[in-house]
Amino acid sequence: MPPGRPRTEQHRGLGSKFTQVTDKELLDKAIDVAKRAYAPYSKFFVGAALVGKDGRVFEGCNVENISFGLTICAERNAVFAAVAAGCREFTKIVIAADTQEPASPCGACRQVLAEFDPNMEVILGTFSGKTIAYRLSELLPRPCTGILDRP
Ligand code: THU
Repeated sequence: MPPGRPRTEQHRGLGSKFTQVTDKELLDKAIDVAKRAYAPYSKFFVGAALVGKDGRVFEGCNVENISFGLTICAERNAVFAAVAAGCREFTKIVIAADTQEPASPCGACRQVLAEFDPNMEVILGTFSGKTIAYRLSELLPRPCTGILDRP
C-alpha cells in the first residue's frame, strides 16, 4: 500500500452513521481469517475480505479436505458467504497469505469473482503488510466472452 493518506471504503454501518474501512483494516481482517483456515494438508493459510457495494465485508478462508479436490479457496468462500447474505455487488477483495510475495488467486477464483464484477479491485497482501493492487480484468481478461453465445 502506498504511504500517505489511507485509501478508504466508505459505507453505511448498521446505524445511519457512515463508517470507513481502510485497505489496512481489510488486510488485517484477511490475515485474521487466514489464521482460521483449515489447511492441514498444504499448511498454506489464505484469507479474503470481500467488500460489498453496500459496505459490508465478507470473509473467507480456505477449507481443505482429505479428498484434496474438494478443497475450497478463501476467495470463493468469501464470495459464497456474501451471496448467501444477499450481497452480489462488490468493490474490492483483499487476499492475504503468509508468503514473502503476495499470492495471486487461482484461475477458478478469478472466474468466480468475475461473475459478479470483472473489474473489481483485487489487493494481494502478505502477513507482513506488503501489498499489490490489480483490477480483476488484468488478472482475467475476457472472462465471459463467447461462453453463452449459442442460440
Ligand atoms: N488457496 C486459496 O485459498 N487461495 C488462493 O488464492 C490460492 C490457493 C488455497 C487452496 C489450498 O487450500 C491451499 O491454498 C494450497 O493451494
